[in-house]
Amino acid sequence: MKHYLVTGGAGFIGSNLIRKLLATEDCRVTCIDDFDPFYSPAIKQMNIRDFKDHQGFRLISNDLGKTTAAELAGLIPEPVDVIIHLAAKAGVRPSIENPLAYQQANVIGLQNMLDFCKESHTKQFVFASSSSVYGINNHFPWKEDEQLMPISPYAMTKLAGEMLGHVYSRLFGIRFIALRFFTVFGPGQRPDLAIHKFTKAIAKGKPITMYGDGSTSRDYTYVDDIVKGIIAAAKFEGADFEIINIGNNYSISLKDLIQAIETVTGKKAIIEQYPDQPGDVPKTFANISKAKRLLGYQPETSLEEGLQSFYEWFNQHHTILAP
Ligand SMILES: NC(=O)c1ccc[n+]([C@@H]2O[C@H](COP(=O)([O-])OP(=O)(O)OC[C@H]3O[C@@H](n4cnc5c(N)ncnc54)[C@H](O)[C@@H]3O)[C@@H](O)[C@H]2O)c1
Repeated sequence: MKHYLVTGGAGFIGSNLIRKLLATEDCRVTCIDDFDPFYSPAIKQMNIRDFKDHQGFRLISNDLGKTTAAELAGLIPEPVDVIIHLAAKAGVRPSIENPLAYQQANVIGLQNMLDFCKESHTKQFVFASSSSVYGINNHFPWKEDEQLMPISPYAMTKLAGEMLGHVYSRLFGIRFIALRFFTVFGPGQRPDLAIHKFTKAIAKGKPITMYGDGSTSRDYTYVDDIVKGIIAAAKFEGADFEIINIGNNYSISLKDLIQAIETVTGKKAIIEQYPDQPGDVPKTFANISKAKRLLGYQPETSLEEGLQSFYEWFNQHHTILAP
């Protein structure tokens, strides 16, 4: 039986991943999450509610930025097969306000996990990187070997993470797979992300904030597709270090996104336009041929279908998400 260690498992992507692992794999899962107040911890408790009492699940509520490898070894004495490190402070804009907190959680937190990986002789490490590492770059769709020009402290911590992983892979033989996720959406999506914010406001008849003229665009990727990519990376044995885009190969403008949410909710958006935000890149667009080749990755859910599933989840959990 495989033992997965998933950090950030009470968050959006992590909780979807653990639900899938427990349902489809012969495994047990140890989750580390400190229920960081970046968004309501009550939402994170809700995320893990349906598997919290599963006999194969264990929760450790520690801050990885402050928990050493030796302390982790005391908490997790049994062998681990794969570490999937999703814990991080996410979000571009807040990282500009508080870059030090992002260093602590995202870089020191990763360092502690890699040291634990080394000490515990865990072979495989999957790391949640981000499309934001590309920054300002017009060679669309982005391939993994593009020049990287991050423009936010958050993006920089993700790039640092990829490089830290390379160091540990070379020095200690850890298989380190960095997955560059492109804007993830679907049930459980973080409340700070556009689809969640817009759906909530439109459903309540409140105005939405649109930064820029609506022409910025994103490669939106449905969370079940991301989870499939993560599980494939957890089983990948083809090389000891890889960086792989996990996106949708489809970039949609903010204006078109708002229209699609209007269709799903059946309501018209009241748009308030503000200037572009510093740190936000104008466009993301993934080349996913490497993910297809190495991981057999193939995104399956369209934006429309994914928005519909998100809206159903949002309505089901209305009392916590939109009190
Ligand atoms: N959602 C996206 O669109 C997206 C895109 C690119 C990359 N990513 C990355 O994927 C990962 C998961 O993202 P998400 O959207 O699920 O975010 P999330 O905020 O929902 O989940 C992250 C989890 O990590 C936990 N955490 C934060 N700091 C911690 C610490 N110091 N110690 C222990 N736990 C800590 C949080 O409590 C949270 O539950 C993150 O690393 C994020 O940077 C996400």
